[in-house]
Amino acid sequence: MHSSIASYQWLLHIFTVISSLQVSAARFNIPRLSPTRGTILQNPEILSATISKDFQTFYYNQTLDHFNYRPESYSTFQQRYVINFKYWGGGAGADANAPIFVYLGAEEPLDGDISVIGFLTDNAARFNALLVYIEHRYYGKSIPFGSRKEALKNASTLGYFNSAQAITDYAEILLYIKEKYNARHSPVIVIGGSYGGNQEQTCSEMVMPIGIDNTTMFPPDPFDLSNYIDDCKKLYGVSPRPHWVTTYYGGYDIKLILQRFASNIIFSNGLRDPYSSGGVLEDISESVVAIHTVNGSHCLDILGANQDSDPDWLVMQRKAEVEIIEGWISKYYADLKESNNRSCTQNKRKD
Ligand SMILES: *[C@@H]1O[C@H](CO)[C@@H](O)[C@H](O)[C@H]1NC(C)=O
Ligand SMILES: *[C@@H]1O[C@H](CO)[C@@H](O)[C@H](O)[C@H]1NC(C)=O
Ligand SMILES: *[C@@H]1O[C@H](CO)[C@@H](O)[C@H](O)[C@H]1NC(C)=O
Ligand SMILES: *[C@@H]1O[C@H](CO)[C@@H](O)[C@H](O)[C@H]1NC(C)=O
Ligand SMILES: *[C@@H]1O[C@H](CO)[C@@H](O)[C@H](O)[C@H]1NC(C)=O
Repeated sequence: MHSSIASYQWLLHIFTVISSLQVSAARFNIPRLSPTRGTILQNPEILSATISKDFQTFYYNQTLDHFNYRPESYSTFQQRYVINFKYWGGGAGADANAPIFVYLGAEEPLDGDISVIGFLTDNAARFNALLVYIEHRYYGKSIPFGSRKEALKNASTLGYFNSAQAITDYAEILLYIKEKYNARHSPVIVIGGSYGGNQEQTCSEMVMPIGIDNTTMFPPDPFDLSNYIDDCKKLYGVSPRPHWVTTYYGGYDIKLILQRFASNIIFSNGLRDPYSSGGVLEDISESVVAIHTVNGSHCLDILGANQDSDPDWLVMQRKAEVEIIEGWISKYYADLKESNNRSCTQNKRKD
C-alpha cells in the first residue's frame, strides 16, 4: 500500500494522509491498482444497501472550476460525501476538538471504499473521531454536467477533471464540515491509498512512462510518448501534459522538496506492491516518515484489520502508524492550547 499523511498550509490545522502513488491506465495495459483492489462490485446501488446506518450520505454544491473567474467556472455540481458520527467525541458529538478522519476517494465510486477502508472505523473509537469519506469528482455520484455521458463528452467538459481541482474540492468540503459541525479546531487526518485517474486523467496529467523492456517474459514494449499522445487524442480528444504534474507538485528532487516543504506525512508501502518501487521508502524528516513491510501489498494497511488472520508484521505496521498519528494530534493540541492561551492573554491586556 502507499498512503501518506501531509499538512497543507492552506488547510489550517489540518493533518493529511494522502494517497501518493498515481496509478492508472487500463487502456494502456498498465495494471491498475485501486485501494480496494477490484474487490468491489461495479454496481454502487447494491453496495450502498450494505453500508450500515451509521453512515449518512450528503451532497455538497461543489464549484466546477476553482481556478478561474469565467462565468462557467461558477457552475456547481453535487459532490457526494458520507459521514459517520458514531464515535465522534466519544458519542457526545462535536466537543473537545476531537479529530476528523477523512478518506479521500480515489478513481472509483465511493460506495465500495466505505466498507473496505477499515483503517477509519478500526481507529475511530480510540480517537473519538468523526469519519468523513469524500468521493472524487467525475466518479460515482459526483458527476458534473448532469450526466456521465455529458461529463465525459469531450475536452470542454473533461477539462475540469484533474487532481488539483479534486484536492481543492476536498479542502472546500472539509472547511464546510468544520464550520457546520462546530469543529473548527479539530485536527484532520486524511487517509488514502494509490491514486487513479483511470480514463481521463492518464491522458492529461498522470502520464506514467511505463513500458516493458527486454528483460521480462513479455514481448518488449518500450514506452513511446508520441504514440501515447496520439492514442489520447484519438480516445478522448485530450493532449497530455506529461510534465505538468511535476511542475505543479514538484518531484524532480522529491526528497529535498518534501524535507523543506512537507510535514506530517506517513508514506506507507508494501514491497510486494509493484508500485512501491516508485514510493518513498526512507524517512525524510522528523514528521515525514516512511514505513514499509517486505510482504505487504498495495494499500493493505488501510484495509480493515482482521484479528484472526493478520500477520504480526501487519499488526505492527498499523500500530506504528496509529502511534505516529497520536503523537501528532497530542502535539497539535498542545500548540492549540498555547495559542488559545496567548490570545486570551492578549485580550486581557486589551481589557
Ligand atoms: C445546492 O444546489 C441546489 C441546486 O442548485 C439548490 O437547490 C440547493 O439549495 C443548494 N444547496 C445548498 C446547501 O446551497
Ligand atoms: C464539446 O461539445 C460541445 C457541445 O456539443 C461543443 O460546443 C464544444 O465545442 C465541444 N468541445 C470540444 C473541445 O470539442
Ligand atoms: C535489451 O535492451 C538493451 C538496452 O536497450 C540492449 O542493449 C540489449 O542488447 C537488448 N538485449 C536483447 C537480447 O535484445
Ligand atoms: C515474507 O514472506 C516469506 C514467504 O512467506 C517469508 O519467508 C519471510 O520470512 C517473510 N518476511 C518477513 C519480513 O515477514
Ligand atoms: C498560559 O500563559 C500563562 C502566562 O504566560 C502561563 O503562566 C501558563 O502556564 C500558560 N498555560 C498554558 C496551559 O500554557
